[in-house]
Amino acid sequence: MRTCGRLRRVVVGVDRAARAFEQSARRGQRGHGGRSTTARAMARFADVPEAPKDPILGISELFLADTSSDKMNLGVGAYRDDNGKPQVLKCVREAEKRIAGNFNMEYLPTNGFKDFIKHSLDLAYGEDSEAVKSGSIAAVQSLSGTGSCRLLAEFQKRFMPGCTVYISVPTWSNHHNIWRDAGCEQTTYRYYKESTRGLDFEGMMEDINNAPNGSMFLLHACAHNPTGVDPSAEQWREISKAMKAKNHFAFFDMAYQGFASGDCVRDAQSIRIFAEDGHKFALAQSFAKNMGLYGQRIGTVSVMCEDKAEAVRVESQLKVIARAMYSNPPMHGALIASTILGDPALKAQWYVEVKEMADRIITMRTLLRKHLEDSGSKLPWQHVTDQIGMFCYSGMAPEQVDKLRTDHHIYMTRNGRISMAGVTSGNVERLAKAMHEVTK
Ligand SMILES: Cc1ncc(COP(=O)(O)O)c(C=O)c1O
Repeated sequence: MRTCGRLRRVVVGVDRAARAFEQSARRGQRGHGGRSTTARAMARFADVPEAPKDPILGISELFLADTSSDKMNLGVGAYRDDNGKPQVLKCVREAEKRIAGNFNMEYLPTNGFKDFIKHSLDLAYGEDSEAVKSGSIAAVQSLSGTGSCRLLAEFQKRFMPGCTVYISVPTWSNHHNIWRDAGCEQTTYRYYKESTRGLDFEGMMEDINNAPNGSMFLLHACAHNPTGVDPSAEQWREISKAMKAKNHFAFFDMAYQGFASGDCVRDAQSIRIFAEDGHKFALAQSFAKNMGLYGQRIGTVSVMCEDKAEAVRVESQLKVIARAMYSNPPMHGALIASTILGDPALKAQWYVEVKEMADRIITMRTLLRKHLEDSGSKLPWQHVTDQIGMFCYSGMAPEQVDKLRTDHHIYMTRNGRISMAGVTSGNVERLAKAMHEVTK
């Protein structure tokens, strides 16, 4: 068997592990001179090191361990209502009622629920999209945004050999894990300018232009995580043209459609611009945030192809990858999302509810900035209201974030990212005062 370097190391490692397992099994048959089964089992994993905590999920663990009644979790990006409680959308409750008892518990096909995929593509590409209508988009239902990225990364590893993925600095930390575990080469492109707390457009364009032709760029379709800084429509047009000239492949991660502006159509502008310019790109969609279906793990990965025949081939390979990883995606979330997207009245209600969530966050941004300024802080806080989406990239240093945790029981990731979804009218003033305290 011909194997490349990285793969060969893995194969050799697997062989060694298999031999070690066989030897230990043979020893087990002969007996172990009095060592108990438990002691042997413990020894088997004695060399497994404890993994470092995930920078985002680790915050939730610390938060849960804090016994203060005043604690605030601004770590994980999950929407909370103004009482700080998780929110189930009314349209979701209505969809649940409609589907209750009407479906069996059989497996979905490996590529998922057909109706859901169709609605999902319409939402992203537009109902009048020629690509969707012509069937030239390969698409499968996948495990929310993370699973969609992972499927695409695996696809890249198999069918785009030698293609390096360019990832923005900074990005959602899990992007690096996903492409690392898929065994793809990754590098970075400039995105955020510390001095302006805005987009480093010139740096980004330079990196696009300097990347080898045919590179893959991982782009956040809207509400960039963690910075809350998005290119304008005009800038997206320039990015699209530059990427076209270099024959780069765009992979859009769209985890927040509707959360940037409150308008699902407007938030898809980057994708629509690329489609108009004739790009063939790939897209990960998540319904975790915008439908509040976090735990349902519901999303779509799609790849624009040259024609229907190519789409059939690409889709068949996505199915092969999904089959080996998890076989079939979950049904319940797909039924909820397709019930909402397939009924004009429910869909309209969903649009209203998404806007309400986005608007509440915008109000919290205004209040946070006001309280920071009222607290006497001399630092500039305009970026708090300039940034969009679920997060505020505050500019606080890791040590300042640590002090927020130890002195004020306020939890956020050490890069200074505040999940604005956890800020409420009841805690925003205390947050502002604490931020002023640690940044003085
Ligand atoms: C940029 C980005 N992509 C993907 C995801 C994945 O989310 P999920 O797997 O819950 O859909 C997130 C979630 O935080 C994200 O911020």
